[in-house]
Amino acid sequence: MGERRHRIAVIAGDGIGPEVTAQALKSMEAAAARCGFTFEANRYDLGGERYLATGEVLPDSVEEELAGHDAILLGAVGTPDVPPGVLERGLLLRLRFDFELYVNLRPVKLFPGVPTPIAGLTPERCDMLVARENTEGPYAGTGGTLRKGTAAEVAMQDSVNTRFGVERIVRFGFEQALARRRRLALGHKTNVLIHSGGLWHRTVYELAEQYPDVEVDYAHVDAMCLYMVNSPEQFDVIVTDNLFGDIITDLGAAIQGGMGLAASGNLNPERNYPSLFEPVHGSAPDITGRGWANPVAAVLSAAMCLSHLGENEAAEAVEDAAAAVLPTMEAMAGPGMGGTTDSLGDRIAEAVAGG
Ligand code: IPM
Ligand code: MN
Repeated sequence: MGERRHRIAVIAGDGIGPEVTAQALKSMEAAAARCGFTFEANRYDLGGERYLATGEVLPDSVEEELAGHDAILLGAVGTPDVPPGVLERGLLLRLRFDFELYVNLRPVKLFPGVPTPIAGLTPERCDMLVARENTEGPYAGTGGTLRKGTAAEVAMQDSVNTRFGVERIVRFGFEQALARRRRLALGHKTNVLIHSGGLWHRTVYELAEQYPDVEVDYAHVDAMCLYMVNSPEQFDVIVTDNLFGDIITDLGAAIQGGMGLAASGNLNPERNYPSLFEPVHGSAPDITGRGWANPVAAVLSAAMCLSHLGENEAAEAVEDAAAAVLPTMEAMAGPGMGGTTDSLGDRIAEAVAGG
């Protein structure tokens, strides 16, 4: 068997993006040395800084180069001077759509020793996996504005839902459930959004016939927020629409101890394009350069990347190392973490190497 070598594109981005990405790469290097594979990390300078300097968000030639990689690691993009929407639609959503990254996979797992704002919650009761649809819904961007800036302004923002798009994410959710605790819950708002909700609900219950071993449940997404807080143990895999998934995964991040711990993978399960892994948090310009960013979300995203690349032993080593450092931290972000972004990254990488 040949040498295992992976080509990884790295978009460290803006703000704390480069700070946390450096830690993710350290832990990947330690994992590579330990588990016997190699990788090349090709850096791409994209994000707010580049946009402000050159006006470029994602040149076609760069997107083509990205497409030639096995995976993409992204830190965070966004600077305060870039108007809203430019980088979100021009870079993040463009990659999600063009590379058919139709799964946004976001684990909501409470690690031992992490303070959660939910009184009495224990790790045994909190291990959810959100599979958020990542290419349709209100994010599709269709709609329009009439009479802009007048008292009679009209704004229409459609939600696009296709049977094809819903079915592929729901099927992914069922497959994940089979490999976990065999429960799948759909979150939607079928009582109000009867068109899109109807399509989602029918798709879930039709596919359920092909997965007799998976117990299926439905919750209106507002109630789901309540249950995620009060009884997260009722959830294993949650499948949901793009916007609902965006919202409930910020709630999930809070439940699991904060944005500094929330990891994600934007996946193309068919592997026609590279999948993209990023911490859920943003570029946090308010704390940039201080060493106050928690590197764990980026490190756990790197672990998801390794798992996607088939490096399961390495993925487990990196996740375990991050989990081992968490109980030694005094806070989950900020000046009181009990270490800087960099020193915590060193401790995680050492644990990967030595474990
Ligand atoms: C996320 C972010 C993005 C989203 C933004 C930055 C476009 O909030 O990844 O959750 O809304 O999906
Ligand atoms: Mn979000």
